[in-house]
Amino acid sequence: MFSKQYFVVLLLAYVANCEKSYLPPYIVPCEFKSDDFVDCVKNQIEIALPLFTLGIPEMDVPSIDPVHLKNIEILGNGLNLTFSEAKMHGLSQAKLTELKVQLSKGEGKFSLSFKSNMNLTAKYVADGKILILPIKGNGDALVDAQGVEVHIDSKLIHEKDSKGDHMKLATPKYRYTIERTVFDLKNLFNGNKQLAETTLQFANENWQQLMDELSPPAIKQIVKTVVKAINKFLSKVDIHEIIKGYTED
Ligand SMILES: *[C@@H]1O[C@H](CO)[C@@H](O)[C@H](O)[C@H]1NC(C)=O
Ligand SMILES: *[C@@H]1O[C@H](CO)[C@@H](O)[C@H](O)[C@H]1NC(C)=O
Repeated sequence: MFSKQYFVVLLLAYVANCEKSYLPPYIVPCEFKSDDFVDCVKNQIEIALPLFTLGIPEMDVPSIDPVHLKNIEILGNGLNLTFSEAKMHGLSQAKLTELKVQLSKGEGKFSLSFKSNMNLTAKYVADGKILILPIKGNGDALVDAQGVEVHIDSKLIHEKDSKGDHMKLATPKYRYTIERTVFDLKNLFNGNKQLAETTLQFANENWQQLMDELSPPAIKQIVKTVVKAINKFLSKVDIHEIIKGYTED
């Protein structure tokens, strides 16, 4: 009789242990009540960023380097330009440039800035004019965006489900800056090198103008993908597993 009860206790302990979700070894919980809580979180994110961006298969968190983008279409203003099969590389090289975490009852805040060189590889189709110069062609495109800094401002809300108490980023807003962009479009003008060189040089001198149209849909998808990956992670861990001694008040 005694040993049977003992067995049940052991079994329960085992089950309870199993229900603790998997956490990658590079994520170490910070102490909520400590004075350097925000510094600790910042330090944790700095360490985790290059690894987290490559995905956590055990938690169904997908890799976000590269980010697969939906087709980007710029139609009008005398230029039709589409990018398909687009992939944005570089998030795993991103450096954290700013972090603010405010956990409070009900609704908190989470701001994150990161900076990275990113490049987009895609198939392009172009027809029309960039400002004054004609552009026409289709083939492989490489868009090398240097010093891309993205700032995300989000609400941090709580959600309870059968698996526990989770944090979630909600209604993220964002802004971004890009230091410089270099375009390389292969096979412009059916491979006419001279025409291609003139147009590419002009495009690269006026990169800002092209990026004004190109970057909003790309960055929007990148932010969406980043927030989705973070939320996937947060949905799989109880808040107490990543923040030691967390209390709502
Ligand atoms: C794309 O970016 C990565 C990292 O920023 C860089 O190492 C790589 O050389 C770039 N690829 C190309 C084709 O420029
Ligand atoms: C761009 O596409 C639109 C709609 O498909 C078409 O009407 C227009 O002629 C195209 N413009 C150029 C410059 O190819």
